[in-house]
Amino acid sequence: MRKPVSVQDILGKKGNQPIVMITSYDATMARIVDESDVDIILVGDSAGMVMAGLDNTLGVTMDMMVYHVQCVTRTKPKSLVIADLPFLSYQTSVPDAVRNAGRFLQEAGAQAVKLEGGQRVIEQVRAIIRADIPVMGHLGLTPQSVHAFGGYKVQGRGEEAARLLKENALMLQEAGVFSIVLECVPTPVAKEVSEALAIPTIGIGAGPHCDGQVLVIQDLLGMNREFRPKFVKRYASLHETIKAAVDAYAKEVRGGAFPADEHCFKN
Ligand code: KIV
Repeated sequence: MRKPVSVQDILGKKGNQPIVMITSYDATMARIVDESDVDIILVGDSAGMVMAGLDNTLGVTMDMMVYHVQCVTRTKPKSLVIADLPFLSYQTSVPDAVRNAGRFLQEAGAQAVKLEGGQRVIEQVRAIIRADIPVMGHLGLTPQSVHAFGGYKVQGRGEEAARLLKENALMLQEAGVFSIVLECVPTPVAKEVSEALAIPTIGIGAGPHCDGQVLVIQDLLGMNREFRPKFVKRYASLHETIKAAVDAYAKEVRGGAFPADEHCFKN
């Protein structure tokens, strides 16, 4: 039987084995993902878009995230469960950051938290780690900054931007994070950052040289026909599969073929 994955196991994978991280937000998906022996389940604030139908992650609240993290941890996965701190749950103050990170462990059973940004949230990162809560960083395209960036754009392009990205990664490492997500960063920049760090990087749209990869589960399953960014590989076409099943069900109900005898209770 598989042993629970710890933060120390994730650190130990650097240079040894690529780290597999996938998002999940509900119990059904968490059970399937955990059966595949993934290393990390990220309960991302992408939940706002894929579960709640929001246009971006800015409307996600702590209460929404606590609910999704609870749905996942109730299945008792062996994968490490990381909870994403939503917009305004940590930027506002150091005490807010510690209290909200703590809620994920105390109320929802997560083992670590993730937050976006480097230097500008470094005091929050240090304080959360001082409270013995492991932290994963997130640099590059940080979706909570979508309006400051003027859209979802590749980050770290050009010498100065790449230098700043690396500086922020080193600062996060120095503050004690156990790994860093690099999102939508040019491959050579992600390579240089990954090589400069002793902790693992997890890439999404950051090329093959990161120490691990993460995808949103609905994206890799092909559940959203409209969303096709360059960095997503579809391993299934579930939109089509689910649509065909629902069509067949509707046809059988309307035609009287369902329920058949075998679906009915006898006296
Ligand atoms: O919210 C999320 O799902 C994320 C990943 C895409 C890294 O932050």
